[in-house]
Parts: sequence; C-alpha cells; structure tokens
Amino acid sequence: VDLAEVMRSTGAIREFVDEPVDDTALREIFELARFAPSGGNRQGWKVIVVRDPAKRARLQEMSRAGWREYAAYVAAGRVPFAPGPDGKWTGPPDDVDAAGIDVPGAVEAIHEAPVLAVLAADLQQLAVTDIDLDRQSIVGGASVYPFAQNVLLAARDLGMGGVLTTFLCRRESEVKELLGIPTPYAVAALLALGRPTRFPTRLRRKEVDELVAIDDFTGRPLR
Ligand SMILES: Cc1cc2nc3c(=O)[nH]c(=O)nc-3n(C[C@H](O)[C@H](O)[C@H](O)COP(=O)(O)O)c2cc1C
Repeated sequence: VDLAEVMRSTGAIREFVDEPVDDTALREIFELARFAPSGGNRQGWKVIVVRDPAKRARLQEMSRAGWREYAAYVAAGRVPFAPGPDGKWTGPPDDVDAAGIDVPGAVEAIHEAPVLAVLAADLQQLAVTDIDLDRQSIVGGASVYPFAQNVLLAARDLGMGGVLTTFLCRRESEVKELLGIPTPYAVAALLALGRPTRFPTRLRRKEVDELVAIDDFTGRPLR
C-alpha cells in the first residue's frame, strides 16, 4: 500500500481475525517502527509483547477498570481525564461514578488480539521541555507516541491493523509489577495488533481548514 493510502486508512482496529501474527511479520513491524523520532534521539521506549495467557487476562482485567472510569466520564457528559480550563487537573468530578458500568464487547475484544504489547517509556530519557510549566505537561509523550503510531502504520502496510489504548495506564503500578517494568519507566500504552475483521472505509477527521491557521491562532486558513 502506498504511504498516503496507509496514512488515510490507519484507523483504530479493535476486532481481529483469530489468526496468529507470525514473528517475522511482527519483527518487520518493529523494524520499521524503530525509525520514529524522539527528543535527542534517545529512544526511551521498550515494548513487552505479552503472550502468557494469565498475563493477558490480567491486562484485560486492568483495562476493564480503566474503561469503566472512562465511560463514566462520558456518561456524565465530560471529557475523560481532561484538565480544567486552566490546563490543570482538579480531580474527578462528583458526578462521575464508574460503579455499575458495563464493558462493551468491542473493548473486551481488544484483548483477544493476536498481538498484545505494552509500550513503556523511560521517563529519564524524555526531553520534557514544558516540565516546569504550571499546567498539564504534554511534551514528554511526543518522545514515545510517534513510535506507537509507526507501529500502527507498519502494521497497516502489512495488511494488519491495531489500536493504541491507554486504559491500562490507570493501573500503572500493577502493570509494572506484572511485567517486571522497572521504576524510571511509565506505562505509555497497550498496543493490540492483528488482522482486522474489517477495515474502516473512511476515517472521520477534521479538515485542514479547521486545523491550520496563518500567522495567528485565529488567522486565515491555509488555502
Ligand atoms: C493517545 C491515545 C489513547 C487512546 N486510548 C484508547 C483507549 O484507551 N481505548 C480505545 O479503545 N481506544 C483508544 N485510542 C484510540 C482512539 O479512540 C482512536 O484513535 C480514535 O477514536 C479514532 O478512531 P478511528 O481511527 O476509528 O477513527 C487511543 C488513541 C490515542 C492516540
């Protein structure tokens, strides 16, 4: 598939054909993904491919808990885990209650993916240039998530698909213990990969007019 087609069609895939991804293909995905950029080219990422059925089941259980919290925010009409208008976290709102929320089949299906991989990031290798600003920091993740996107693009190029999820990050200490991830690392994402039951036909994304402005945030769009 050509690059433009890959970029246009790499959507979130959460349901997979029950067919293994062989190690040659999986290696090829990481072989391509490793060319991702990172601050200072420090490449502080580590991928743990989880095959042990007991560990996979634990990851699913932990993701479920994260999903319930996420869905509770949505049910309350809020942006899940979002900072407030001043860019700071003020704690979960009172109207968000995760009790009794069911986990949908599509979310469960993620954990049946042929490949489940946890992406960890060495915090000491991140160039977090907004580290001391009095708001939610964003820059550190930029040294990790381009790698994750490269994994998804490479998978798509090989006729596969996948999704990056972050529900697990709500249970970071348990995930670290389960997988032996050492202290300076953070859990950045879970990646699920495999052959999709179907590819999305069209991704819904903002138009260029909405997201690019000339000279000022409210400037004229790029035409
Ligand atoms: C940083 C990040 C976190 C995400 N976390 C989750 C997640 O926890 N669970 C999930 O099902 N999808 C997750 N996604 C996938 C998004 O929901 C998906 O990319 C978005 O809804 C667009 O979907 P589409 O490609 O099908 O249009 C995440 C994506 C990103 C980039």
